[in-house]
Amino acid sequence: MARNGKVAVIGAGFYGSTTAQRLAEYDIFDEVVLTDIIEGRPEGLALDMNQSRPIEGFETKVTGATTGRSGEGYEAIAGSDIVIITAGLPRKPGMSRMDLIETNAKIVRQVAENVAKHAPNAVVIVVSNPLDEMTALAQLATAFPKNRVLGQAGMLDTARFTNSVAEKLGVPVAAVTTLTLGSHGDTMVPVPSKCTVEVDGKRQPLTDLLSAEDIEALVERTRNGGAEVVALLKTGSAFYAPAAAAARMAKAVIEDSGAVMPVCAWVEGEYGIDGVYLGVVAELGREGVRKVVETDLTDSELAALKEAAEAVRAKQADVQNL
Ligand SMILES: NC(=O)c1ccc[n+]([C@@H]2O[C@H](COP(=O)([O-])OP(=O)(O)OC[C@H]3O[C@@H](n4cnc5c(N)ncnc54)[C@H](O)[C@@H]3O)[C@@H](O)[C@H]2O)c1
Repeated sequence: MARNGKVAVIGAGFYGSTTAQRLAEYDIFDEVVLTDIIEGRPEGLALDMNQSRPIEGFETKVTGATTGRSGEGYEAIAGSDIVIITAGLPRKPGMSRMDLIETNAKIVRQVAENVAKHAPNAVVIVVSNPLDEMTALAQLATAFPKNRVLGQAGMLDTARFTNSVAEKLGVPVAAVTTLTLGSHGDTMVPVPSKCTVEVDGKRQPLTDLLSAEDIEALVERTRNGGAEVVALLKTGSAFYAPAAAAARMAKAVIEDSGAVMPVCAWVEGEYGIDGVYLGVVAELGREGVRKVVETDLTDSELAALKEAAEAVRAKQADVQNL
């Protein structure tokens, strides 16, 4: 099997370590690098993952590296094609993602500056919360072209929506197509008009299968999808589905596949919205975001997307000073 490229995952917590494992198990990269500021944690996790290779049957090498706050140890990510930033605190029950902004901004800025120094050609995928703001900050701190910095949220939110619809209707997840746009937060915009379910080999609009109240309940559950997991776990936030989403984005980039998926991308005029990082559907390739793919929205969905854009625009302006 042809393997190529190097992907670095910054932050070896639940999200980062699970992402590194998924990436390694794809067996498409030469190397997966996992880093953290907790001494020995990334090295220990890397050793453990490497020891799983004979059992799972993959050859991608996992390297762990402890990094210091002044950039020590970042040589390990040199030459990375992709860097996934997961460093930062997760939510506790009752917290909003926005409660993390000051602490995580300091972490993401420091990480992004070191990424720019040691992996200047990488595509950067941000997952740290609050997502839209941390993506904007990573772009500022790296000064990379905007297409080379993107965030993960839409794949996860869409997957949560799909899972809820499939459970509600008692159908396989593969039969369901859903979409969420907007921000990863209160202004997430689930798009019921784009949701379909395959029944007896035919695609049917979700609106033909469920009542407006049922759809609204699923939309609400999607919007609170992260908080629902946080409340159950009590310590930490979701990581299996989030890691799957970030890993798929990295796969699309390294394979230059042109896969189209919902991501947080820089929007320049699409939907009449300009100059903001926002959840949209985009085509991914070796250069990061190849293009934002516009989709037809109803008037109310478009209005909600514009509202989300203005809410995140204000917050993204604030991160410049954090
Ligand atoms: N975008 C999404 O959809 C989504 C989904 C889930 C979680 N998240 C976010 O992802 C982030 C990570 O979540 P988690 O569950 O892995 O948390 P975690 O606490 O398990 O792990 C975070 C890790 O980051 C490390 N870290 C902190 N500062 C660092 C630095 N300067 N350099 C390198 N590493 C550093 C910590 O030591 C820790 O190991 C959180 O901000 C969380 O809110 C985002």
